[in-house]
Amino acid sequence: MTYSEITSKDLDFFQQILTPNRVLTDEENLLRCASDKTEDLVFKPQVVLQPVSSKEVSTVLKYCNQHQIPVVPRGSGTGLSGGALPIYGGVILDMQKMNKILNIDVENFQVTAEPGIITQELMDAVKEKGLFYPVDPASKGSCFIGGNIAENSGGARAVKYGVVKDQVLNLEIVLPNGEIMWTGANTLKNATGYNLTQLMIGSEGTLAVVTKIVLKLLKTPTEDLLVFVPFLSAEEACQAVHKIFMAGYTPSALEFMEREAIDIAQQFIGKNFLKLQDNIKAGLLIEVDGTDKNILMQEMEGIFEVVDKFETGEILFADTAAHKETLWKIRRVMGEAAKSSSIYKEEDTVVPRAKLPLLIKKVKELGVEYGFDSIIYGHAGDGNLHINILKNQMPDERWKNVLPIAIRELFVYTHSLGGTISGEHGIGFVQKEYMNTVFSNTGIELQKQIKKIFDPNQILNPGKIF
Ligand code: LAC
Ligand code: ZN
Repeated sequence: MTYSEITSKDLDFFQQILTPNRVLTDEENLLRCASDKTEDLVFKPQVVLQPVSSKEVSTVLKYCNQHQIPVVPRGSGTGLSGGALPIYGGVILDMQKMNKILNIDVENFQVTAEPGIITQELMDAVKEKGLFYPVDPASKGSCFIGGNIAENSGGARAVKYGVVKDQVLNLEIVLPNGEIMWTGANTLKNATGYNLTQLMIGSEGTLAVVTKIVLKLLKTPTEDLLVFVPFLSAEEACQAVHKIFMAGYTPSALEFMEREAIDIAQQFIGKNFLKLQDNIKAGLLIEVDGTDKNILMQEMEGIFEVVDKFETGEILFADTAAHKETLWKIRRVMGEAAKSSSIYKEEDTVVPRAKLPLLIKKVKELGVEYGFDSIIYGHAGDGNLHINILKNQMPDERWKNVLPIAIRELFVYTHSLGGTISGEHGIGFVQKEYMNTVFSNTGIELQKQIKKIFDPNQILNPGKIF
């Protein structure tokens, strides 16, 4: 595909539509939008546009479609698969000014928002009305809800409440030809035609630009309990995970972390909150939530009976809000902390959760065979492990040519366990070469045909997924 360079005539047009102060060509903004949180990748756009309405998005898309200019929608740039990188240059559609909550429908437990609102701000706004939006990616303090939809984000509470796709009722989208439409209805049930809403979620801005979002909400759980259980073996920690569910408990979070992940996270925030003995190799962070503290205590005691069958260290009960916050902080900074220590690649494998021990064993075996270091943590309750592969002392040549062979082997194995290669970070730019480990040619071809129907000129986020 060849694309047109943006000319001064194009810039004049954008300035007329958006006003000049929302058409940015200064180096600082171009660089800001040249990267996300994926490795050290940099692709500079030619211009950053900041629309404030669906109508403006529509006019921009229609124009770019006619002039064969690539357009990449961008949230806040916290993505981990390179979904927001403008690899062919062109326009970044920076959605940060479309950040309003349009309506909180308390009677129907729904919120309608624009895509540029920070996820945490949306959670706080509905909480004031006694309502709960449960999807909390680690980056919730800075990521946008629109980006969460683009990547079908998850986070720690997905294990009980589901991921983004489970919360979205309806979307307003703008097609590449400029047409504005709604994908579904503001209803809890919908058996009307193909599910266009779900097709948009996780499509990484390759089919249309989302401009309004209707989410379903819950009543806010008023109580929660949080504990940290240290284990003498990482594999055993993973074995305990499905046993907890088999005993009849559904924690609101069940997170796994290797010892190294805990150490670097604590170093990163400068706190030695979890004082672990040398023999501790991993830990589970377990949260239960609800409205009745006594019931939660009973649940937690039941969970302790399960983990008691494994070799564990002393369980830490977070008994104040500050302790809970510190434990969550340790967990949330883990990715960033791992990355600050070395060049890295982050994998996002997910398997049926009883297969977790096999997955983690395989990662370590491959590490020995191919000579890479890894730091593993993630959403064990979902069977979803974030595997940070660190470059450390690996020679460039091996990193570039041999590591992809190891990753492919890991992904083929993950697939053989009934799993897949991304649970919540998406395929974007960096995982596309591995799509054929989980899809047949027909599976990939069908998806390419769908892309063509929505975006025949391939202007929307080109070079992603396939
Ligand atoms: C996390 C991000 C990396 O779980 O998904 O920390
Ligand atoms: Zn995660």
